[in-house]
Amino acid sequence: APVPPPDLTKCTVTSVGPESVQCCPPFNGQNKITDFKLPSSREQVRIRPAAHLVNKSYIQKYERAIQLMKSLPDDDPRSFKQQANIHCAYCNGAYIQTGFPDARFEVHSSWLFFPFHRFYLHFFERILGKLIGDPTFALPYWNWDNPPGMSIPSFFMNPNSPLHDPIRNPDHQESVLLDMDWSDEVDSSSPEEQYKTNLSLMHTQMVTGASKASLFFGSALKAGDNVTQMSSQGTIEATPHGIVHVWMGDWTNQPNGENMGTLYSAARDPIFYSHHANVDRMWNLWKTVGPNRKDISDPDWLESAFVFYDEDKNLVRCKIKDCIDSRKQLKYDYQQVPIPWQKTTT
Ligand code: C2O
Repeated sequence: APVPPPDLTKCTVTSVGPESVQCCPPFNGQNKITDFKLPSSREQVRIRPAAHLVNKSYIQKYERAIQLMKSLPDDDPRSFKQQANIHCAYCNGAYIQTGFPDARFEVHSSWLFFPFHRFYLHFFERILGKLIGDPTFALPYWNWDNPPGMSIPSFFMNPNSPLHDPIRNPDHQESVLLDMDWSDEVDSSSPEEQYKTNLSLMHTQMVTGASKASLFFGSALKAGDNVTQMSSQGTIEATPHGIVHVWMGDWTNQPNGENMGTLYSAARDPIFYSHHANVDRMWNLWKTVGPNRKDISDPDWLESAFVFYDEDKNLVRCKIKDCIDSRKQLKYDYQQVPIPWQKTTT
């Protein structure tokens, strides 16, 4: 059976090591939950731009939107704090699946990964657009699969910007190239070597290693299931998605690699949403890079559901079947850029 949405009345404080963290959304027990309705087919398609290609006025607009979101009161479900907490609630065991008291929600390491994060960004983006009165606003994506985009987009590094997060790995700052096979040791490759390593990894994760849906999406997770040792991540979820998280986290001064390096705090760093926009873009691209790359047709996947607050603070129940085509169903797509890993052979 499909995974039912979380039971919001049973959201609990969760623990991270010795600390407890409260990441449940504001909920008074009677907020009505309605079924998600697709945006109107007449709505203009939002085009998410590559972060390294945006101009100054786009950056200012994005900063203003995040600033407004950060200024909302903490108990507003659209506030930056509550938006960041969504990730914690869905990943750190705060929620149970409705009707399954022993099944703790965890949206990683299974086929829930891509659709959960897609809906999450969809609402985050629409809240920002609403706050600045721009219904065409689209999040920038961190184009880490393309050499010109392989370091942290510079506007996330300005310490005076609301897009900056002081809790990041101090060694991985502006202009340091992302290392997709990073594992703690000093980054010593030349830029050319690093591009090559990253592109060949991308080729493996998207093309040769993801020849069918189960490899790309990860293992099945059904009603009542918990993620276990046996659960497997999809190729992109593991690398580069996971690597980018740990590469961004501060392992020197923070207990758990906060912010980006650990689930409960990852979404407190504004770069999270651009990182995930590119992860989400990979879902669209995967379907175009070879034969047999089709979305899962199992109704247990298609009917699995999550709950989010939308841009009007309404609670909506979202089923995976409503998010499999970003352009047709959710009315957004990605700016096209070169895809240098597509043909790479090492
Ligand atoms: Cu929910 Cu990048 O992880």
